[in-house]
Order: sequence, then structure tokens, then C-alpha cells
Amino acid sequence: MKLDRRISNLCITGFSGTGKSLVAEEVARRLDWDFLDTDDEIVRQTGKPIAEIFRQDGEGRFRELERQTIRKACQQRRTVIAIGGGAIVDPQNYELLAKTGLIVCLEAKPETIYERLFREAPYSPETEVRPLLATDNPLERIKQLKASRQPYYAEADWTIHTDGLSVSEVAGEVIRAWGLLRHMHPHLNPLPSRESRLGSQLKANDDVACLVETATQSYPVFVGYGLLNKIGGKMRQAALSGRATIISDKNVFSIYGSKVAEILEGAGFAVNSFVVPPGEETKNMGYAVRIYDFLVEHRAERDDVIVALGGGMVGDLAGFAAATFLRGIFWVQVPTSLIAMVDASIGGKVGVNHAEGKNLIGAFYQPTLVLADPQTLTTLPQRELVSGWAEVIKHGMILDKEFLEFLETNINKLLKLEPEALAQAVARSAAIKAQVVNQDEKEREGKRTILNYGHTIAHGLEAATQYKRFLHGEAVAIGMMGAAKLSQRLGLLPAAAVERQQALLQKFGLPTAFSGLDLTEITRAMELDKKTKGKAIRWVLLQDIGKTVIRSDVPQQDVQAVLQELTEL
Ligand SMILES: NC(=O)c1ccc[n+]([C@@H]2O[C@H](COP(=O)([O-])OP(=O)(O)OC[C@H]3O[C@@H](n4cnc5c(N)ncnc54)[C@H](O)[C@@H]3O)[C@@H](O)[C@H]2O)c1
Ligand SMILES: [Zn+2]
Repeated sequence: MKLDRRISNLCITGFSGTGKSLVAEEVARRLDWDFLDTDDEIVRQTGKPIAEIFRQDGEGRFRELERQTIRKACQQRRTVIAIGGGAIVDPQNYELLAKTGLIVCLEAKPETIYERLFREAPYSPETEVRPLLATDNPLERIKQLKASRQPYYAEADWTIHTDGLSVSEVAGEVIRAWGLLRHMHPHLNPLPSRESRLGSQLKANDDVACLVETATQSYPVFVGYGLLNKIGGKMRQAALSGRATIISDKNVFSIYGSKVAEILEGAGFAVNSFVVPPGEETKNMGYAVRIYDFLVEHRAERDDVIVALGGGMVGDLAGFAAATFLRGIFWVQVPTSLIAMVDASIGGKVGVNHAEGKNLIGAFYQPTLVLADPQTLTTLPQRELVSGWAEVIKHGMILDKEFLEFLETNINKLLKLEPEALAQAVARSAAIKAQVVNQDEKEREGKRTILNYGHTIAHGLEAATQYKRFLHGEAVAIGMMGAAKLSQRLGLLPAAAVERQQALLQKFGLPTAFSGLDLTEITRAMELDKKTKGKAIRWVLLQDIGKTVIRSDVPQQDVQAVLQELTEL
């Protein structure tokens, strides 16, 4: 059956005893959606337990009430709907549910179902809600009834085997499925198994550089030269629709604003735009409030979407507005600077600066998708572009020797912004960041720490110069040299690796030393750095290219000696 689907709900189906209601409720809580259980709804409306409806009015009457309840439920949005185990058999119900939501089926072996229904929650006339199982041999009846419904359950978009899983684990799986499947082409028929489904998603989307998979959401990062032209389609595929508010800065909007607006309009979005002044000074609460005002004025709703079009400043600011407006509305990241493509747009960190410090106010809030078009880098000012390469090289140095070799081999193509090499470098670098983020979404487990390679000294340099002298990547390049030299000094890293890093940074036009700065100022700023836990600075050092080690026992005199070395041009 071909369905024109507009997916805005999640429907949980499956046999009795698979935990539909509890799971649906938990999913709704985690996604902050509404929750509706059709059986409960029927009981509430009729004032009768399900078993009594069956007894007094017959199954036919119950199915009729069920159909009505489902019809109403399907008019909702952002609702997790738990439906009765037999509801999906009805083709009308199926079609309605599939048109408006994603159907997830919870599976369990008949024995597990029997255990859950009859052992863990003993069957009694008062609590009885499963009249169809009221027989002498319930296990046999479960097997029969389940087998007869299996073809219908198989039509679900996704199936989760719940045997041995807790409600919370099943809920986590449902959310993961939602994150993955909502990006699929909405017109596709459901495929039988989850593996083939995910496989086809990746095949259908050649531009997927990586998936960011966090506890609350999974979403694709698309990277492709000229991909901006496809943003409308990609957003539709991710089941986004309605109104799109483009948030951008003046520089970026003047080049790409009308083009993106046109493409989105062509894809059926009602578009309006809010343009802020360029520069880090804009990333503050005052501009967040202006964005809220704009959204209120245009009556933005929870199902509308914000499109953050610009560098990391716009991404952080617009993402923060998206995270907080109406307690979170959909947003899409369209990074246009190299730093934003390979770093800021991956990981869901959004926020604004406070007068007392950078990024002091913020949240973790993942977008629905990220779309990076490296062609936009052709208009990025040269110094900004060069600064971005520092983070790209950093990704190679900390995690991927092969990628570092790729950068070395393709340096000339990359400097010329040759489309294929450029897209490859951006995609790979974004994937490395995603890989780290996936292991530690909220920076709680310390795994994200390795991304701070080069950043301890960089933050010192930036703060000591009031963020005026260096672009972030420039400071990071110098900081990476400091970290590499420190690693060498501590006997961890061979000199050849330090030289290799230096040569690559320099070829990209990045600084590897500084002059004219007071070292005590830098040291003080480093001590104040927010990434410092307790007293000792946690240094991200290298053992080899692609292999990091975290050390909190680095002697002060070694740090001073390295800073001194960095001033010797
Ligand atoms: N959220 C995160 O995880 C994360 C990570 C790293 C950095 N950041 C943040 O990102 C910001 C830095 O990002 P950035 O370097 O992109 O700064 P930015 O957004 O200020 O962009 C730099 C300059 O380039 C211009 N620009 C961007 N794309 C362009 C294009 N394609 N053509 C022409 N001009 C273009 C901008 O208008 C701006 O003037 C900082 O606020 C930083 O805190 C966040
Ligand atoms: Zn950085």
C-alpha cells in the first residue's frame, strides 16, 4: 500500500503484555510529548472496564469504539499513542495510524507474555482487561492469537524484541527508532526488518557523512558540495513541514538567504527570516530575546522549524532559541563556516555568552538534521577558513592517523577548495566529532575531553588577549603545538610527530607560535579555564598521531618551558 505519510505521532502496538502502555508513557515523558492509551480512553469515555464492554455489548461494539478513539488520536501531534493489541488488524486503523505516525511494534515470546500477564500481574475479574485471553489454557491461546496477528504486526515500521528488556530500555529503543526512521523517505513502504530499513536509509542518502546518535535522538549529518539546493527535500524527508524561520547573520544571509528561502518555499514551507548582526558580540541573551519576540510575533508553534544558517555563532544562538522557545521546537543546522561544519554543528551544544564568560548559558539540544554544503566555504573570508582547518587537523591528530595522511596528501586540492577533496575532508572531520559525541553526549564521562586537545593553551591565549587578537582556530593551532611539545617533553611523543603536525598547520597557513604576550597572563587565564577540574589542569596529550592520553600531573615548569618555546619564532 502506498501512503502519503505525515509523521507527527508515535504509535506503539504489539500483543498484550509487551508493555505498550508503560513504554509509551515513558517515551512521551522523555520526548516531552503527550501520551494517550486507546484502551484507557475507551474506559474513560464509557465508564466501563473493557471486559464489561466485551461482555455486555460484544467485541463488535468495542472495535467500533476503538476505531473512533484512534481516529481522534490521529488528529493529535507529538503524541505517543498506545493502541490495543488487536487494533492494528483493522485496515482503516492501520492506514490512519501509518499516515500520521510511525508505528513501532513491541514483540515478546508467548512465554514471556504469559509470564508478564499471568504471573507478574495475576489475572482477576476486577483487573481483567484482556477478555480474549480468558480461557483454560491461556498460553496456548496467546500463541494462537499472536500467530493470527503476526502478519499485521509485521507491517510496523520497526519492531523491538522486549524479552529481557526493562521498560526504560525498550523506551530508549523506541526513541532511537524514532530518531532514525523519521529521516526516511516518508513515502516508502515499511520494510520487514530493522537492518534492511536502516541500510536502505543510508543507501538512499549518499550524502550522509555520519549519524549523531544520542540518548534522546539520532539524526543524520549531510555533507555534499552543492547540497544546499536539496535542503527543502531533506527537511521534508525528515518529516518537517509547516513554517520555517531562517535565522542567520547579515554576512551569510546576504549571500545565501534568498536562495535558501526560495528552496524552502519550493518545498512547501512558509518561510520567514530573522537576521542578526555578524560577530561574537551578537551571541548573547539580548539577541535570544529578540528571536523569541520574532517567533511570538509570527505565532511560531512547536511543530515549526528554525533553520540556523551561518557559522558557529548563528548555530549556537539559533539553537539556543530553538531549545528554549516553547520548551523546544524543531531546528535544522546549516553550517556555513568550516568551524561550524566540522565542530560547532555536531554535538548539540547550544548557548549564548554572558558578560562574565563565553558560553555560560546553554543547553544540549540536538537538531533534526545537519546539512553542510562545503561550496559555501568559497565565500568564507580566508582567515576564517584557515582558522577552521585547525579543528580539522586536530581531529586527525587525536583520533585518525589515516585522515591526517589524507590531509597531508591532498593539501593542494584542499587549499584550492577542490570540491571532492573538500567534501571528503569536511565529512570525515564531522564524522570524527560525531563519533566522540556519540560516546558522551553531555560531556559527563570525560570522553569528549580529547576534543580539548590544544585548547588549554588556546583558551589561555584567547582570554589573555580579550578574544581580540586570535581567531579561535589560530589559538588552537598554537595550543596544539604547545600540547605536542609538552607530550614530547614528557617522553610520550616522538619529535617527528611534533614536526609533522607543525608542517601541516603551517601549510594551511596557521600560526604555530606567538610573540609579544606576557606568559604569566596566559598561565593565569589557563588556570581559570572552565574545563579545569579541581586544581590540576587536565592536559590532553598525544602518545602517537591518533592516540591521546589525559594527564593531570604535568609539572608547572614543563608547561612554562613549553610556553617559552612557543614564543621563540
Ligand atoms: N556548539 C559547539 O559545540 C561549538 C563548537 C565550536 C565553536 N562554537 C562557537 O562557534 C562560534 C565560532 O564559529 P565561527 O568561527 O563559524 O564564527 P561565526 O559564526 O562568527 O562566523 C565567522 C564569520 O564568518 C562569516 N561567515 C560564515 N559563513 C560564511 C560564508 N559561507 N560566507 C561568508 N561569510 C561567512 C560570519 O558572518 C562571521 O563574520 C563561537 O561562538 C563558538 O563559541 C560552538
Ligand atoms: Zn575549538
